[in-house]
Amino acid sequence: MKNFISVKDTGDIRGLVQQAIAYKSNPFKDRSLGQNKRIGLLFLNPSMRTRLSTQIAAQNIGMEAIVFNVGQDGWMLEFEEEAIMSGNTVEHVKDAAPILGKYFDILGIRTFPTLKNKAEDYSELYIRQFIKYAGIPIVSLESATLHPLQSLTDIITITETFQEKRKPKIVLTWAPHVKTLPQCVANSFAEWVNAWGDAEFTITHPEDYELDEGFTKGALITHNQDEALRDADFVYVKNWSTYTDYGRIYCNDPKWMLSNKKMQLTNNAKVMHCLPVRRNVELSDEILDGPNSIVTQQATNRVWAAQVVLSKLLQSSK
Ligand code: CP
Repeated sequence: MKNFISVKDTGDIRGLVQQAIAYKSNPFKDRSLGQNKRIGLLFLNPSMRTRLSTQIAAQNIGMEAIVFNVGQDGWMLEFEEEAIMSGNTVEHVKDAAPILGKYFDILGIRTFPTLKNKAEDYSELYIRQFIKYAGIPIVSLESATLHPLQSLTDIITITETFQEKRKPKIVLTWAPHVKTLPQCVANSFAEWVNAWGDAEFTITHPEDYELDEGFTKGALITHNQDEALRDADFVYVKNWSTYTDYGRIYCNDPKWMLSNKKMQLTNNAKVMHCLPVRRNVELSDEILDGPNSIVTQQATNRVWAAQVVLSKLLQSSK
């Protein structure tokens, strides 16, 4: 593995999942792998789970982790080639990234989309520029369009939870929200479940909330949430803003919020969410505090997903 930006950087999802589960039962078995190695975690946007779980994962394999809040602790970066930097940006990524590439052995980057210009966001300029100029492996800690560490975590969580000898039925359902949110988690979850191939996969959302077909192709897509939920083993709840007419809120119908009544349609499904979640907007208290929610287990697994990715990157760069 050279970088970890999307599912395309992984050859063997099942192998990664099994290795992550092995780390979960023996976190320190590769303690010497990261000895004298350092990871820089660059945050252009806020985070709790990704930041802490990646630091813990790095420490578990003996790496030092240093967090840097770009734009808050440091200079605001410019990413456009040939930019005339007469505005707010102080340092170009082509000057900063090679330095970071000398300070660290791996760089993690979190960068959200603007949700104003689809072409720009979907070009993943920020991540591409770090890959181009840092000269060391880059890990996405969530980018403009994808959240691969979250998606690997989600597949790990489903694998360890589902014990039957058949494919689980997984439903990704849109949920209401008061803010315009990125499509990253939904895009990435769809891309990973489709690439994994070990599930029956349905996506349900209101009209106008279609995602990019490049990520969803292979899933059954319906606007009828009740129909989608029927016999589901896992319900993944997430809001996203519109993709076609980009970054808008067309619907905030609370009927789309999952309830215990809707859960009766499922096969006693486990409920997932990447967190943070807006209670009683995106997901109800009765679900989050109920027996079917596995959101804490899911967030805990962020450590093992990050640990397996960092170990693969270190092994590849030996
Ligand atoms: N799920 C997730 O990425 O959480 P944070 O934004 O807290 O890192």
